[in-house]
Amino acid sequence: MIDQTNIKAILIDLISAAFDTSATAVEWTISELVRNARVMEKLQEEVQSVVGMERMVEEKDLGELTYLNMVVKESFRLRPIGPLLVPRECREDITIEGYWIPKKSRIIVNTWAIGHDQNVWSNNVEEFYPEDSWRGT
Ligand code: HEM
Repeated sequence: MIDQTNIKAILIDLISAAFDTSATAVEWTISELVRNARVMEKLQEEVQSVVGMERMVEEKDLGELTYLNMVVKESFRLRPIGPLLVPRECREDITIEGYWIPKKSRIIVNTWAIGHDQNVWSNNVEEFYPEDSWRGT
């Protein structure tokens, strides 16, 4: 049975996990496009050639919008919405890369740092450069 507690949990999921993340991701992506005219123009050209100006973008178009895919991934790298993800609890004692992690430790995964690691990305990790993001997929 769905009671008040379930409804509260669903609403929190919807508002914080679904609406807010999506809106913030769109805001960051648009702001990067505004700051990067080269990327904006290349993306506009793709959308115009794949979809045209007579209709809206539809889900079936996504497979062909490869540059859009790169732009979204680059946005997630440079401006991650949940930079520290959701905390985890370690289920067993374990050693990873020489680090001893006792059972029940709280683990925070820093995806912001992963997205800014110069060993993985280019030297210019602060630049919004979708072509580089593609390399990381
Ligand atoms: C651009 C949009 C979104 C972004 C950037 C985003 C980002 C994230 C991140 C970073 C996490 C944590 C993942 C982890 O710690 O492993 C997460 C978890 C989650 N997201 Fe999203 N999210 C988005 C859209 C949505 C939408 C639309 C929904 C629901 C309709 C949703 C539902 C959830 C739920 C339920 C979890 C928890 C999953 C779990 O417990 O394993 N998210 N999301």
